Amino acid sequence: MALHREQWASKLGFVLAAAGSAIGLGNIWRFPYKAGQYGGGAFVVAYIVSVFIIGIPVMIAEFIIGRSAQKSPVGAFRVLRDSKYWPLVGWLGLATGFVILSYYSVVGGWIIKYIVVSITSGFQTGTASANFTTFLASPWQQVLWHAIFMFINILIVRGGISSGIEKWSKVLMPALLIILMILMINSLMTAGAGEGIRFLLKPDFSQLTRAGMLEALGHAFFSLSLGMGAMLTYGSYLDKNINISTSSLEIVILNTFYAIMAGLMIFPIVFTYNVNPNAGPGLFFITLPEVFARMPGGQVVGLAFFLLVAFAAITSAISLLEVVVSFFIDELNWSRKKADYILGTVIFLVGIPSALSFNAWSGFTLFGGKNIFDQLDMLATNFMLPIGGLFIAVFAGWILTHGEKEAEIKRVENTFHFYDIWHVLIKYLTPVALLIVLLYTTGLLSFFE
Ligand code: TRP
Repeated sequence: MALHREQWASKLGFVLAAAGSAIGLGNIWRFPYKAGQYGGGAFVVAYIVSVFIIGIPVMIAEFIIGRSAQKSPVGAFRVLRDSKYWPLVGWLGLATGFVILSYYSVVGGWIIKYIVVSITSGFQTGTASANFTTFLASPWQQVLWHAIFMFINILIVRGGISSGIEKWSKVLMPALLIILMILMINSLMTAGAGEGIRFLLKPDFSQLTRAGMLEALGHAFFSLSLGMGAMLTYGSYLDKNINISTSSLEIVILNTFYAIMAGLMIFPIVFTYNVNPNAGPGLFFITLPEVFARMPGGQVVGLAFFLLVAFAAITSAISLLEVVVSFFIDELNWSRKKADYILGTVIFLVGIPSALSFNAWSGFTLFGGKNIFDQLDMLATNFMLPIGGLFIAVFAGWILTHGEKEAEIKRVENTFHFYDIWHVLIKYLTPVALLIVLLYTTGLLSFFE
């Protein structure tokens, strides 16, 4: 076993890497779209409340568990409590990492493909929908771009914590911010700006149904990369003197900020060019290319847009790969290089059925008429992540002693912390909120409607 665990080189590097994990397709694509659907500003408020009652508490819990155990999820629970059962939470996290990355990488591949299209031919009006359909229908193209995206991840994770993940996060996250700002300002100067801002932010509490509130809770969880030990793993590389409370707040604020900026970038142009704001998955690959085709300078804007989305997706995907790789390094003493190449390849193979969900295997549906890709997404986000999060909350709230937790949060150097509030939340409110989300998504709560 390695004598010294790898560490982040600086607090800034750690915060950017963790924010990079959080800020992903969830923020840039799903958040604006959900906000539009469930009452704009009302959804934004529900999301922010959810971030406070379950997001920040679970994030702090993951950092505490990871840093005190100095291990990735499976080993962490075993080191902290000598029990047969708690490590199962780690195993669940590991499995979740496999599942999410396998289909996330397929979408990552689409984005890389669209970067290439932006450079080579740009987008032409009236062709976006047919082009996307043709692209989805080609099995070899789906597998090829998925492989390319996965390979980029493997190369970054290969560099390790400070000279791979941290180094790249420090380049990609500021680059992402600059592109996002420029595109947002550009959008806010178009004629549809007022309507776009209203669509995203004007609170309409009548549209914030119970379903909308649960979506906000679930989304807070997914968008902060919680519930599978990704933050736990990142916490295990964190220097003991770094303040977990302030770091978590910074990560969460960055995450929310980027999500709102993404909405302010997308909706003004959607209204200016009079296309459908509620296009769901097609928004990025059909609606926006159509807009770029019609917009002056659209080829450059389109390229910048897909680069931005790629940066967001890559910094999230590397955290998923790192969870899996760190298990093989910690538990089986594999070298980083070996773990990275082998596991990266295995996850690529696991993702092939998702890549084929849109063509060769589209007829293969299990239940609810959903293809493999949608099935895996639903399984991971609706079940695996909230279940994992629930157990993480219970472990931090009820199993760890005050002494163990205070040793991580109330360090002498850390004058600012909110241990007492956090403790009440993680013990009572967070688990109850997660339980309600779970009961609802499994259909068990539908009696009460
Ligand atoms: N948070 C990412 C997003 O918004 C997705 C993600 C990356 C994730 N790593 C994760 C979700 C770990 C859950 C767990 O797109």
